[in-house]
Formats: sequence, structure tokens, C-alpha cells
Amino acid sequence: MKTLGIETSCDETAIAIYDSKDGIIGESIHSQMEMHAEYGGVVPELASRDHCLKIVDVLEDALGNISLDSIDQIAYTSGPGLLGALLIGESFAQGLSTALNIPLIPINHLEGHLMSPMMEFPQISMPFICLLVSGGHSMIVDVKDKGQYEIIGQSQDDAVGEAFDKVAKLLDLPYPGGPHIERLALEGKSDAFDFPRPMKNSDNLNMSLSGLKTSVLYTVQKISNLTKEVKADIAASFQQAISDVLVAKIKKSIEITGRKEVIVAGGVAANKFLRGEFKKLEESHNITVYYPDMKYCGDNAAMIAFVGSMMKPSVENDRSSSARARWPLDELKE
Ligand code: KG4
Ligand code: ZN
Repeated sequence: MKTLGIETSCDETAIAIYDSKDGIIGESIHSQMEMHAEYGGVVPELASRDHCLKIVDVLEDALGNISLDSIDQIAYTSGPGLLGALLIGESFAQGLSTALNIPLIPINHLEGHLMSPMMEFPQISMPFICLLVSGGHSMIVDVKDKGQYEIIGQSQDDAVGEAFDKVAKLLDLPYPGGPHIERLALEGKSDAFDFPRPMKNSDNLNMSLSGLKTSVLYTVQKISNLTKEVKADIAASFQQAISDVLVAKIKKSIEITGRKEVIVAGGVAANKFLRGEFKKLEESHNITVYYPDMKYCGDNAAMIAFVGSMMKPSVENDRSSSARARWPLDELKE
């Protein structure tokens, strides 16, 4: 069975085809990152217009030699995300499913992220813990079973990726800042600055990152000559602080739940320093930590097609709109 997945929730126009026997057999992604970089963040209207402009080319590129007639169902991201952007993907998905007369399945974007490593590691079994860290979300989810997700911890303010992006801005690094901080941190000392680790030792699984970001701001304001060396030290010390918080929270969450498998997903999961810190936790706590393939850490359509392939369309050819900006994982209905 072939599921065509469509992702347009933010600044990536992506389409992929998942075959239940062969896995991902076609995919294409157009990133709008460069377009938004000059504004220092995603501009919603520009995002919607660019999805409109690129989606047909992305479809043709993803299909390659695969015939549209061979597609059995369409899965698309219906939330959470930028509403205007979601509506482009939804309209396109509805058009395709009407033309081909095949079922249409709305998918939760966050569910896509948390299932993404299962494409590569089918041995992962539920229940497991998922740390979902991206530009818009930072949460710890207890994945009890397919569709049964309990959010057991989350950021009270900035998302982890957002904190990386804001600190990058303070250091005059381009948007999105995460990869730039990671690269610069390689040249710095992670103990050069003693940044706070807010809520690291709190007795719950929630996090707070705005105090850490503000501490970096005050540090930057106090330094008159912000050389490349100093910036590298700040980047490394910040990355260490944030990793310490995330590792402490995952440690606590496995102690509380007794889970033995952890998935780290979302854009920040691409961070190799963080992966190294989790490696230590794997060894000390006898757990296994899985990550999506590097190309599936950020937004992509492969994860949407994959989750779609596990779903049974409830109402065939239902053309009502499911797009919604807010759609918490614990409000999913199977
Ligand atoms: O999942 P994603 O592509 O988009 C959503 O936010 O849904 O995540 C993007 C976020 C950005 O904040 C970006 O700075 C961060 O992920 N990011 C990273 C790295 N690569 C991307 N953060 C830290 N280290 C990285 N290597
Ligand atoms: Zn995402």
C-alpha cells in the first residue's frame, strides 16, 4: 500500500511516498529557510504563498517515476502549525484525493515527529518516552501506545530550538541558529560561563528556558569586545547548560515511568553534542536512545506518510476541514 504524505505546517513544503513493503520510495522537500532568514524568523503569509508556489513542483519531484494512480491514500499534516500554511497543504491534499478518488487522512505533525525513528528502527516498541524538541515545541511524552500520548513535561516558556535561535541572534549568528551554535561551540569551552540550569532539579518534568536565555543576554551586554573566541565559549557553555537540563529531565522521566527506550525527535535532535550527552545516560541507566535519521529530525513529509500508513481512514472521502493551529498530542482521537 502506498501512502502519499504532505507537510506544509511551517516553512518546509514536503511530499513523500511511503510503501508499506519498501518504506520511503520517493520524497522531495523545499525549504523556505533562506527566504525567512532575512526577517529573523518565519513570516506566516510569505510561508503560505511559497507553499502555493512550490507544492506542484515538489509533488512531481517526489513522485519521479511513481505513477499518481498507484497511490492508495493521502496523509497530510492538519495541525499544529501556521494555519495559513496548513490550509495550503489541506486544500492540495483534498484536490488530489478527489481527483484520484482515494481516502484522505489528517495527521498530527507532532505524532509524525515522535514516530519518525520507527521508520529506521522497527524494533522500537511502545511504551517509550519521547523528548520532542523543535523550534515550536519542547515536551516529554509518555508514548503508551499508538494514539495514547501523555505529556508528562514541557517547557513553561521558550521551546528549546527557540532558545538556540534567540541565543544565536545575540551572538550575531544567522537564523535558524541551532546548527550555528553547535558548530561554533566546537571551538569553545563548555565551562567558560556558568549559565543557570533553570528547573533542572525541580521535582517535576517541566522545563524553563527563558532565564537561561536572559542570563546569556546579560553576559553578552557586559562584554565590550565580543571576539569569536568569547562567542564560542558562550555557545559551548549555553549548549552545555541546555543539555544538562534535558538529560536531567529524561533521567527523571525514565525513573518515574520505568521506560527503557527513549526517542529524541524534532529539529534539535540533530545536535551531536546533545546526542553525546544522552550516550552517557544510555550507559549509566541501561536504556536505549533512538533518533530519527538526520534528514528526518526537522520537518519532513516522510514522517507524515509513515504515520498515515499506520492509520485507517475513518470516513472515506470526508472533505471537511481539519486544519488547526493548536492540536495537543493528548487530544488525539483514533
Ligand atoms: O523541527 P524543526 O525543523 O521545526 C519546527 O520547529 O517544527 O526544528 C527547527 C528548530 C530550530 O529552532 C533550529 O534552530 C533547531 O531546530 N535546530 C537545532 C539544530 N538543528 C536545528 N538546534 C540545535 N542544534 C542543531 N544542530
Ligand atoms: Zn516540526
